[in-house]
Order: sequence, then structure tokens, then C-alpha cells
Amino acid sequence: MYLTIASYFIEHDYEGFGAFFLKQSREEGEHAMRLFHYLMERHAPFQPLPIEIPSKNYDSPLACFRASYEYEQKVTLSYYNLFKRARDMGEYDLEEFLHWYLREQREEEALMRHWMEKLMIAREDPAALLFLDKEARKAAQEED
Ligand SMILES: [Fe+2]
Repeated sequence: MYLTIASYFIEHDYEGFGAFFLKQSREEGEHAMRLFHYLMERHAPFQPLPIEIPSKNYDSPLACFRASYEYEQKVTLSYYNLFKRARDMGEYDLEEFLHWYLREQREEEALMRHWMEKLMIAREDPAALLFLDKEARKAAQEED
């Protein structure tokens, strides 16, 4: 999804936002690998299920960030469900492992909400949008 959004921005010459979403995409890939390695360490089978990629119907920078924010909220709920199952099953080690993801989701929701709100202020103002694009590039270059 974040690669799709990155492509929307790059196609529309918002290179800063494009770089921002490329970085997000890279990070999500790392999060997936963390899960993979956890399964291997626990000697658990790796059985990925198909995931639904939201269709590419973004018509503005704000729409991209709104969709990202809403998607992160959905992902957070999935982790809550997983956490509850781990607790119900007495999977205490998994519960501890999932704490990292709960914190990560809190940060990602806050990040997307932050940019969404800035874009709500900018509305259609080209100068404001270009300024935010520049800010997004800086954010993408920062170390975590
Ligand atoms: Fe995420």
C-alpha cells in the first residue's frame, strides 16, 4: 500500500512525500521480517495469507495520508486481536514479543495523524503543499 502511495506522489512530482512513503514501505517490510524471524526462532510454521491491497484511488495528498492513517488504525486492531489470542492461549513469550508492535503502531498512528492534520490545514494551497513536501523529505532522511 505504501509503495502504491509513494508512486502516486512521485508521479505527481511530490518527491518529498514520495521519499517519505518509500521509507515507510521499507520499514513495514522490516516489521514483517521481524515476524518471520520470530516464527523461525519459535519453530513455528510460516503460512502467509493473502493480503488485500487497497485500490489506488487517491486524488490528493490529504487522501493518501487519510488512507494511511485509517489503515494503521486497522492494523492496530489486528495486533490487539492477536495480543488477546496470545493471552488467551497462554502464549506469554508471544505476548512479550507483540509489545514492540503495539508501541510501533502507536507511533505510526501518531505520525500519520500528524501529517494528515497538517495537510488539512494546507488544503489546496500550492505553497503550503510544496513546503510540506520539503518537510516530508527531511523527515524521510532522518534516522530512526
Ligand atoms: Fe504500519
